[in-house]
Amino acid sequence: MLRGYPKRYCSMESEPGNKKSATIFPRARALYVHVPFCRRKCSYCDFYSLAACPGQEGPYLEALAADLARHDGGLARPCRSVFVGGGTPTVLPARALGGLLALLRPYVGPATEFTVEANPGTITAALAAALVEGGVNRVSLGVQSFAADELAVLGRIHSRAQARRAFQLLRHAGVANLSIDLMYGTPGQTLESWRGSLTEATALGADHLSCYCLTLEPATPLGRDCRAGRIHEMDEALQRDCYDAAIDHAAAAGLKQYELSNFARPHRQCVHNLTYWHNEPYVGVGPGAAGYLDGRRWTNRANLEAWARALCAGHAPPARGERLTGRALMAETVMLALRLTRGLDRRAFARRFGSDVAEVFPRSIARHQAVGSLVVTPGRVRLAREYYFTSNAVLSDLVAEGAGEGQGKTTGGDTKQ
Ligand SMILES: C[S@@+](CC[C@H](N)C(=O)[O-])C[C@H]1O[C@@H](n2cnc3c(N)ncnc32)[C@H](O)[C@@H]1O
Ligand code: SF4
Repeated sequence: MLRGYPKRYCSMESEPGNKKSATIFPRARALYVHVPFCRRKCSYCDFYSLAACPGQEGPYLEALAADLARHDGGLARPCRSVFVGGGTPTVLPARALGGLLALLRPYVGPATEFTVEANPGTITAALAAALVEGGVNRVSLGVQSFAADELAVLGRIHSRAQARRAFQLLRHAGVANLSIDLMYGTPGQTLESWRGSLTEATALGADHLSCYCLTLEPATPLGRDCRAGRIHEMDEALQRDCYDAAIDHAAAAGLKQYELSNFARPHRQCVHNLTYWHNEPYVGVGPGAAGYLDGRRWTNRANLEAWARALCAGHAPPARGERLTGRALMAETVMLALRLTRGLDRRAFARRFGSDVAEVFPRSIARHQAVGSLVVTPGRVRLAREYYFTSNAVLSDLVAEGAGEGQGKTTGGDTKQ
């Protein structure tokens, strides 16, 4: 199965940057802000979020300001991208949302991609206008499906009509860059209904499309239903058909595939996510947010109270972290770059690490080139199209070869920084 929806707080982890970042290391040009509230939890989702209740926003924003201030020396002003995700940022009351956007203003310049994730069930004309007024120029709308029965299985708070209306309200308010998230693999979904969702998304005029294969996360209601035999995972042949349909449909609609799960009109690729796939530094603030700076990764503990308590007392929030170096860092860089249809830029890799990628991973690159799963040219290494759906097999070989010599990874425990 193809995996790769944006689990932003669960990968490798380390402590946030310290004062060194301002001087020795380049500042991060990407900022991620985690908003840990949703109106109601969807049946499949294990992102960190709590059911929103009145009064939480004030303390959250106060702690967020402190989290941002801690990273000020490590962040470019303006950033290349600011991404407000969650959770559901648009569940915040208008005043709090305005306060959040104002807090981020110093990191937003005229060329910054400023994205907010939105659930269609939370979009009103006033909220759309507030986003634009706050400088937001890109919205990622979590539609998931346009089929009523699938929306019910997924526990979504909105209907097909609300999703369509939300898109139109955002467009009308002046959001020039609109992305839609769709999911395939939902129990009960058919190839026909999936094609229907793709058709509606492109007919609305989405500038960018993310098509994720549903992961049945063990700690979610859908994961439990699957273990208990009450629902069944979509069979892999149908998942593959859905994936192929997404690629064909997007291409026919003028949305070019640029990553395993992502498609865009010209100049509408997600600048923020490209930072992740290029394995470049970014700062993450908020409970559960991840960051990567000065060669270290960290993930703030996914606990609103613990995060806010520490920051309001003038301390760093609790986090887990690790430092990736040597072959482990190179393997991760290759693995992320191979998610892009352009693949890895060999010269950029050699500049960064001092060796050609084919010398660093000779066994896995030669093996997969021979099989046909990797296309290797003097300038690039990329996955062959027929292997996108089964990319995990190729990527895990590279990681195994990277880890082969056991170098370069220091895992931190639960830390107080
Ligand atoms: C934080 S959510 C999106 C924004 C907003 N909270 C919403 O749901 O409308 C980011 C995206 O991750 C995807 N996602 C979440 N859980 C997933 C899962 N278990 N499997 C696959 N994709 C998932 C969904 O497409 C979702 O839109
Ligand atoms: S609205 Fe989005 S973040 Fe919230 S539970 Fe649903 S998928 Fe997860």
